[in-house]
Amino acid sequence: MADDDLVFPRGFHWGAATAAYQVEGGWDADGKGPSNWDTVAHRRGFADGATGDVACDHYHRLAEDLDLMAGLGLTSYRFSVSWPRVQPQGRGGWNPRGLEFYERLVDGLLERGIRPALTLYHWDHPQPLEDAGGWMNRDMADWYADYVTGIVDRLGDRVTRWITINEPLSVMYAAMTGSSRLAGPLGRDGLAMARNLLLAHGFAVQRLRSSGEVGIALNLSGIMAASSDPGDVRAAVRAEAYEDRLFLDPLFCKQFPRVDGEPVLDCDPADLDVIATPIDFLGVNWYAPARIAASETGLFGYARVDLPGAPKKNMLGWPIAPEYFGDLLAWLRRSYPGLPPVYITENGLPLDGGTQDYERIAYLADCLRQIKSAIDMGMDIRGYHVWSLMDNLEWEHSYRPRFGLVHVDFATLQRTPKESYHWYKALIARQGSWR
Ligand code: NOJ
Repeated sequence: MADDDLVFPRGFHWGAATAAYQVEGGWDADGKGPSNWDTVAHRRGFADGATGDVACDHYHRLAEDLDLMAGLGLTSYRFSVSWPRVQPQGRGGWNPRGLEFYERLVDGLLERGIRPALTLYHWDHPQPLEDAGGWMNRDMADWYADYVTGIVDRLGDRVTRWITINEPLSVMYAAMTGSSRLAGPLGRDGLAMARNLLLAHGFAVQRLRSSGEVGIALNLSGIMAASSDPGDVRAAVRAEAYEDRLFLDPLFCKQFPRVDGEPVLDCDPADLDVIATPIDFLGVNWYAPARIAASETGLFGYARVDLPGAPKKNMLGWPIAPEYFGDLLAWLRRSYPGLPPVYITENGLPLDGGTQDYERIAYLADCLRQIKSAIDMGMDIRGYHVWSLMDNLEWEHSYRPRFGLVHVDFATLQRTPKESYHWYKALIARQGSWR
């Protein structure tokens, strides 16, 4: 494919991403405790009755997976630590075998010249903490900070890029809609989680301060109004406040966004100080834009509607519209003048099929073109991570939506590089390397 235009600045980081619950399996191996997602999976099951008990069995196939990463020529690998694997009760008591797994992972990356980007929380927490209210409980922020301290003590000599929390917005919405909770949907009350998640992030930044670069990964869409009708415009302003700005404003402007003159959440000024502790980078996860119209049935008075021209949707129902990525990046730069450097921490396309994933190649190349133009216009974007290294458990949607560069046969757990793997490998090989 002719993508000779995709030449990035020297030192740009080429990555792929995964998350513990989606790939590891070994749900009760070697002293791991159950997580909130294990509980939901075991009691209710995800689509098709799936669970994350085995997933890709990455926990037992680490060496093979590290070699697949090295084969790609990655310079960055983003993964997460499973909190219940290392601290089964969520408080006190560390599990040495769990910690050893992450030590082997980090050492394996460094031996292969791949820099670890460690996500401290990618949605799975110990079940005892869920029983104590999970992120609705403000104490979660303190428990999380202690967990972070333990991880830094163990891995801080080798890991130099940290992501505190992955997609706090998704954590909150999963609880609001009930997909991550047995106890039922929280609805609008779940908004309180935003404050506790941000506080946890702020505490973690303070504890990680002298251990390398620290950031957070936010899922952002880029919001547009469906029409110039005042109702739709107002709905789009609300959507921005309850989604794209919900975490950005407190982080970079030390305040929650306002709707109808009132902040969407009350917050103590002392907590806002913690939340706005400066970070070294912003991680951006991007998949699709959001076109918004007024809706009485939406939780906050708005809903997503089809894009103009109704481009094709992917199997999760999101529009395939990479041409909008640049709009989000430009909006981000315009709206937050003090924005730190950006890493694209996730970007990808779910497909149904096997290794002939040419549609994925086209999507990724188009997204990279948007990133490249943003860099050419002066935006400081330092790296890119494909979601995902390999097919994995797409949470409540089970194993059918496949995001991987590597195909996983979930019956045999055999890994097979897809066309997109070979394409990405060639693309990386054509760049100047930072090594
Ligand atoms: C968001 C999440 O961080 C990740 O866990 C998920 O699989 C992908 N995006 C795709 O939905």
